[in-house]
Amino acid sequence: MRKLLVTGGAGFIGSNFIQYLLGRKQEIELLVNLDLLTYAGNLENLKSVEHDPRYCFIQGDIRNRALVRKLFDEYGFDTVVHFAAESHVDRSIVEPELFLTTNIVGTQTLLDVAKNYWKIHPEDKYSREYRPGVIYLQVSTDEVYGALGRNGMFTETTPLAPNSPYSASKASADLIVRAYHETYGLPVNITRCSNNYGSYQFPEKLIPLMIHNALYDKPLPVYGDGMQIRDWLHVKDHCAGIVAVLEKGEVGEVYNIGGNNEKANLEIVRQILKELGKPDSLITHVQDRPGHDRRYAIDNTKITTHLGWKPSYTFEQGMAETIRWYLDNLDWVEHVTSGEYQKYYRKMYLLDT
Ligand code: NAD
Ligand code: DAU
Repeated sequence: MRKLLVTGGAGFIGSNFIQYLLGRKQEIELLVNLDLLTYAGNLENLKSVEHDPRYCFIQGDIRNRALVRKLFDEYGFDTVVHFAAESHVDRSIVEPELFLTTNIVGTQTLLDVAKNYWKIHPEDKYSREYRPGVIYLQVSTDEVYGALGRNGMFTETTPLAPNSPYSASKASADLIVRAYHETYGLPVNITRCSNNYGSYQFPEKLIPLMIHNALYDKPLPVYGDGMQIRDWLHVKDHCAGIVAVLEKGEVGEVYNIGGNNEKANLEIVRQILKELGKPDSLITHVQDRPGHDRRYAIDNTKITTHLGWKPSYTFEQGMAETIRWYLDNLDWVEHVTSGEYQKYYRKMYLLDT
């Protein structure tokens, strides 16, 4: 029976993960969701689990050491799954500092509290003995590897070469996780996944933004020539991959999680327009993202061969389901696209929604 601390559980992937885990795994004794509820955190995502007696929500900051320590003391976690982050590349270009404090300092705070709580002899700096079965899992990204040309794929041994303030902050966090494993022997895993899509994704990211704008006949802002390639992973396949690592992963290892779905942005935008019966004339090419990574592609041989995980969704099936979800949840879309989001949108794109 696990006692989990999940950070950032009110965001896109975290909320899918909590629903996935509580829906499928009876051996969860307790799951505490620590989330600051920034613009990206939304408790509406978690309505289906809010009355589950195993689930508890705490609004708070991962950088607040006293709070994190208090939660460990109170709940006795044996597992940390760390999603909380500033996650949007475009925001990191205009506000890099926030990304460094949340993504780097926040990660180090969690690692440090977990180390001190889980160590059997915390006062002994040479001791590498921990309570049995404890694990800290860092949810990272393929963006830490930088960009690919036409050929090749990222493996777990590809050197880190991040290009944006966001990816640099995630790579820094990964290196700190590694350091806590090497120096203190803390049991850790790092997962690096490709672009996720699915329900509850905030409409600042490509797929939900384009669905949203197409639905309301707004321009669809495509950066540069739109021929950048991402390797799309359905969020539920990602959740299953994280569970596979928690259950079967080798301590200290990094696992890439990718969907084997390389698509150019323009191809996706056209597919969305077609499925919604909207004209291609809504596509509006806008100035390219500074430092825009041209292509990502994940080699997922390690997780498929060592842990037996593989993606279950085809892109066609996943996209049809995702578009359906947004159509069926227009209330959710309206709530997250009001207020602050409107201001952000105007600043970022110089367009009216
Ligand atoms: P998201 O932006 O949707 O959610 C982030 C969540 O973290 C929000 O609920 C927010 O309130 C919370 N948060 C932010 N700062 C916090 C703080 N200081 N303390 C506590 N909570 C805080 O992000 P997402 O898309 O769900 O991504 C989750 C994780 O997965 C991130 O670490 C991200 O880097 C990684 N990742 C995402 C993708 C993707 O395609 N979305 C791909 C690879 C990796
Ligand atoms: O690869 C994993 C990463 O995927 C995660 O680590 C990040 O948290 C997540 O945000 C995502 O980063 P990207 O920058 O790849 O995702 P985004 O949805 O912002 O953009 C996807 C592609 O679409 C990218 O090439 C930029 C382009 N794009 C994006 C937006 C928002 C556009 O052309 N127009 C847009 O308006």
